[in-house]
Formats: sequence, structure tokens, C-alpha cells
Amino acid sequence: MVDMFKAVPEVVRSATERSSSVLAIAREAMEARLPEGMAEAVGRNKPPRVSGPGILVSDVFYPVRTLTADDTEVLLHFLQDGLSEESRRLRFMSPMPTVSPAAAAWLASRDNYERVALAALDPADTTVVIAVVEYASVSDGPPEVAVAVADAFQGKGIGSNLLRMLATMSLAAGEPVWRCDVLADNDGPLRLLATVGTVELGGVTGGVRSVTVQLDPERLLGTTVVI
Ligand SMILES: CC(C)(COP(=O)(O)OP(=O)(O)OC[C@H]1O[C@@H](n2cnc3c(N)ncnc32)[C@H](O)[C@@H]1OP(=O)(O)O)[C@@H](O)C(=O)NCCC(=O)NCCS
Repeated sequence: MVDMFKAVPEVVRSATERSSSVLAIAREAMEARLPEGMAEAVGRNKPPRVSGPGILVSDVFYPVRTLTADDTEVLLHFLQDGLSEESRRLRFMSPMPTVSPAAAAWLASRDNYERVALAALDPADTTVVIAVVEYASVSDGPPEVAVAVADAFQGKGIGSNLLRMLATMSLAAGEPVWRCDVLADNDGPLRLLATVGTVELGGVTGGVRSVTVQLDPERLLGTTVVI
């Protein structure tokens, strides 16, 4: 097991001897420790300056922000145009050919405490939401979590990375268990949830399976840095 706290200062110290700017030092320190290919990816896609949180997935930096009631329109656009009819059915567990503005308003309305939504943005147009993970406290059980990724962006690792971010926040807030409802024949979310914790399948009622996830901090480490 590598002791990051001992190893990292040593790298920074040796970079400091040769570089003058803080950024150059940080960059060199990162490159020295990132797995092959990753340092190049970070350099190629780095934003012009540090502008906020985000996830780096297959070379691309996706900004991430929380949603608020002001985001009703961008959320409506995501649900109606970003998701296919089938993805909407899977997310809402019933057919939803069109999304009503009222439904979008309810989903966007978050207090960022009991109801939190993290949205990943299209790097090419950061006014467009391409993925949303939602978290809602309930009075009589673990918080409920739901996730959806725009069809054009599925299968790239965005859902799992965004979920990791939410899982980290949830653990930090003292909520180590989630509940998630999925259609009984929808396996994708089960594999996705297994990237952040241990999934326990509950019973099926009316075609909907209730799933419990015991969040596992070990699975949230992201990139493993070999030293
Ligand atoms: C379920 C859902 C959220 C998954 O999101 P996603 O961004 O496609 O998920 P990921 O890309 O992180 O992982 C999905 C797959 O892509 C793979 N993957 C991960 N990183 C990848 C990468 N860089 N390149 C290609 N594939 C990758 C994963 O291994 C995973 O494969 P698997 O399905 O065989 O396990 C998305 O399919 C969706 O929105 N479905 C409709 C709504 C829904 O079902 N919601 C759940 C009910 S709340």
C-alpha cells in the first residue's frame, strides 16, 4: 500500500527545484504520477483555467454543477431531447412520450441539501445538460437515487463517474446507503450502481425492483496512482 501523503510531497519538492511557477510544479507533479496516457489526456483537454468541478472521462473534461429551480428549461431540454423515449421510460419507469414543464420544474427544484441533483454539461456547449444524477432524502429509509445520461453520451463512463461524485458527497454527509428503483428488466443501472457499492436486489412490485446500495469508499478512489 502506497503512502500518498509521504510520496506526493517528495514529488512536489523535486519539481520545485526545477520549476518556478506553481502551475508548472503541479503539472509536473501530476505527470510524474499519472498512469501512462492520462497525463497526456489531462494536458490535451485541460480547461484554460480551473473553472469548477467536473469529471475527466476518456480524455474529455465534462463540467459538473448542481441544478436549481432556475434550470427548469435546461432540464426540460435534457429530458425531452437528450433522452430517447426508451431512456425516459427506463428512467421514469413508465412511458413518457412528452415531458411536461411542471414535471421538469419539480425535478429541477432542489434545495441542495435534502434534494440534490448533479448535472454533467456538454463540453462543447455548457448550457446543455447531458447527464443527471439525483438524490432525495426520504423520512423512513435511505435516500433515493436516480440517474440518466443523454443517449448520445451513454456508454462512455459518464454515468459511473457522475455517480461516484454523488457517492462521495453522500458518504461525506453520513449517508452510506442508497435506495434505487429500477424496472425489473433494466440491468444497466445495476452494473452502474455496482461501480460505487454493493448492490442488494430487493423484491419486484408492479414490474419495479427496489435496490439497496451499500456505498463502498474503496470503489470511489477513481484513478489508481501507482507509485
Ligand atoms: C443506465 C445509464 C444511466 C448508464 O449511464 P452510462 O453513462 O451509459 O454508464 P457508463 O458509461 O458509466 O457505464 C455503462 C457501460 O459503459 C461502459 N463504459 C465505462 N466507461 C467507458 C468508456 N470510457 N468507453 C466506453 N464504455 C465505457 C461500462 O463498462 C458499462 O458497461 P456495462 O453496461 O457492460 O457495465 C444510462 O444507460 C441511462 O441513462 N439509461 C436510461 C435511464 C435509466 O435506465 N436509469 C436508471 C433508472 S433510475
